[in-house]
Amino acid sequence: ALITLRQLLDHAAEYGYGVPAFNINNMEQGLAVLEAADEVDAPVILQASRGARTYANDIMLARMVEALAEIYTHIPICMHQDHGNDEATCLTAIQHGFTSVMMDGSLEADAKTPASYDYNEAITARVTAMAHWVGASVEGELGVLGSLETGQGEAEDGHGAEGVLSHDQLLTDPDQAVAFVKATKVDALAIAMGTSHGAYKFTRKPDGAILAMNVIEEIHRRLPTVHLVMHGSSSVPQELQDVINEFGGEMPQTWGVPVEEIIRGIKSGVRKVNIDTDCRMAMTGAIRKVLVSNPAEFDPRKYLKPAKDAMRKLCRERFEQFGTAGNA
Ligand code: G3H
Ligand code: 13P
Ligand code: NA
Ligand code: ZN
Repeated sequence: ALITLRQLLDHAAEYGYGVPAFNINNMEQGLAVLEAADEVDAPVILQASRGARTYANDIMLARMVEALAEIYTHIPICMHQDHGNDEATCLTAIQHGFTSVMMDGSLEADAKTPASYDYNEAITARVTAMAHWVGASVEGELGVLGSLETGQGEAEDGHGAEGVLSHDQLLTDPDQAVAFVKATKVDALAIAMGTSHGAYKFTRKPDGAILAMNVIEEIHRRLPTVHLVMHGSSSVPQELQDVINEFGGEMPQTWGVPVEEIIRGIKSGVRKVNIDTDCRMAMTGAIRKVLVSNPAEFDPRKYLKPAKDAMRKLCRERFEQFGTAGNA
């Protein structure tokens, strides 16, 4: 059945687990997440970016989620708008059956320019009021995601925001977080602490200097009942880099967020963990392997099924690692 983010994360907080939020764009990705959830009895957060909605079409996405809920009746599913940039994006998502939206006011509506605190608070409070009227949940974001190594702040599409940002802009300020939650009444709060979107997060295995887990711990101390969200939480596993590169890919060596750091976050109030890149890499590695090993193959099912299975395996691992398993 479809449930809201608030319902799901309240349960996660009560029982001390985290929930991976997997981005989906098509049927294979939706099936991968639900098959994995079914195997380990985990509740699910599916999320669609603005790009996903354009790619798949809102009606196609809405019917797909309805179908997944009908096939897997015993799995609670939250359908979430990832990185909504304005009121229209968030409200049309709800209109298409999403039970939760992210109003990302950390950037201006162009999704490129870091926004002022006042802009962020005002637009997030407006969206939260409207979403709550109709029973949908809201995630806000405070602080601009980006690299503490380079000071490169990040736009929603993974392209760089203008200029070099200070650590103050790249790390969520705990005092501001308290004021923001009070003023906006968001159900969940995404915070910035050194992660960024995509595969190229860190040039070495991250330590405290470039992944500021202490920021999460401080915010959790100040806001013990608020559900925290970690964006840019792909781990970019070495094995997935290796499969892609073994079968003709060209991905330079890179590091993501270690799973043990995410588990540490879950102990400090992180309840929603956003993962897209790892799923993309799992699927792409599997597809490369089939096509390179079997150049005569041209039936899409012959590579889409292995792609779906590789993503299912990744999703299952995260459900088990984050304690989501057994909580459906
Ligand atoms: O936030 C970024 C997510 O990975 C979605 O990416 O906008 O390319 O669909 P996308
Ligand atoms: P990754 O690129 O690390 O998978 O992050 C995804 C994300 O934060 C979606 O909002
Ligand atoms: Na989101
Ligand atoms: Zn994100």
